[in-house]
This record gives sequence, structure tokens and C-alpha cells, in this order.
Amino acid sequence: MPRFAAQLSVAAVAALLFLSIGTAGAADEGKCTIATKGDSPTARACAKGGRAEAKKVMKDMVKQAKVGGQKFTCDGCHKDLDNYELTKTANDDFKKLEAAQKTK
Ligand code: HEC
Repeated sequence: MPRFAAQLSVAAVAALLFLSIGTAGAADEGKCTIATKGDSPTARACAKGGRAEAKKVMKDMVKQAKVGGQKFTCDGCHKDLDNYELTKTANDDFKKLEAAQKTK
């Protein structure tokens, strides 16, 4: 019986280790590197759910702007959709994109 208990705890530790490594890896991969400060809707989404959430919010903002008659595209502001590097005008355009949300 003690032997069984020992085996059980080894299995539990192994499972815990596996779980923590798994989540740490996923969080790291999905972390924002640009919208890390400030209070923009994107930054808030980043803080909440990383890049996946930020992507959702950005897509939604672009959609809302379109409803309001303004056209934005991801690569109009992001040079690269792998690392989301911003174009020179991205921050100014972002203000327009945010303003376009109010006209929905
Ligand atoms: C009008 C310009 C503009 C458009 C259009 C735009 N973005 Fe962004 N995006 C930005 C800016 C500016 C930031 C940084 C925001 C901040 O610092 O708070 C950003 C941040 C992000 C981030 C967070 C990246 C990081 O690592 O911090 C993701 C993901 C993202 N955008 C995805 C998208 C996707 C997907 C689209 C198309 C549906 C899109 N964006 C369209 C301007 C734009």
C-alpha cells in the first residue's frame, strides 16, 4: 500500500509538471509584444487573453468601422501579420479606427 501511494504521488507530480509546462508554453507564444501598455481596446485584450484575444478585438474593430463606412485592413497598419510589426502610420490610423467605433 505505501508503495502504491508513492507511485500515485509520482504520477500526480508528473501530471502537474506536464500541465504547468504546457500552459506556460502556450501563454508565452500568445503574448503580445506591441500592445503591452496603455489603455487601448487592443492593449486591454492583450492583457486579458494575449494575441488571440487582441486579434479578435482588432477584427471586430475593423468590422465595426466597415459598418460605419470606413475601410481598414490588417496589413494597412501591420507590416507583418506574424509579428504584427506596425507601419509608420499605424498609431495615427489606430486613432481613426477607434473613432470609427463610435459611429456604429
Ligand atoms: C488602423 C490601424 C490598424 C488596423 C486596421 C489593424 N491594426 Fe492591429 N494594431 C494596431 C495598433 C496601433 C496596435 C497596437 C495597439 C496598442 O499599442 O495599444 C495593434 C495591435 C495588434 C495586435 C497585438 C500585437 C501585439 O503583439 O501586441 C494584434 C494581434 C493585431 N493588432 C491584429 C490585427 C488584425 C488581425 C487586424 C485585421 C483584422 C488588425 N490588427 C488591424 C493597428 C491596427
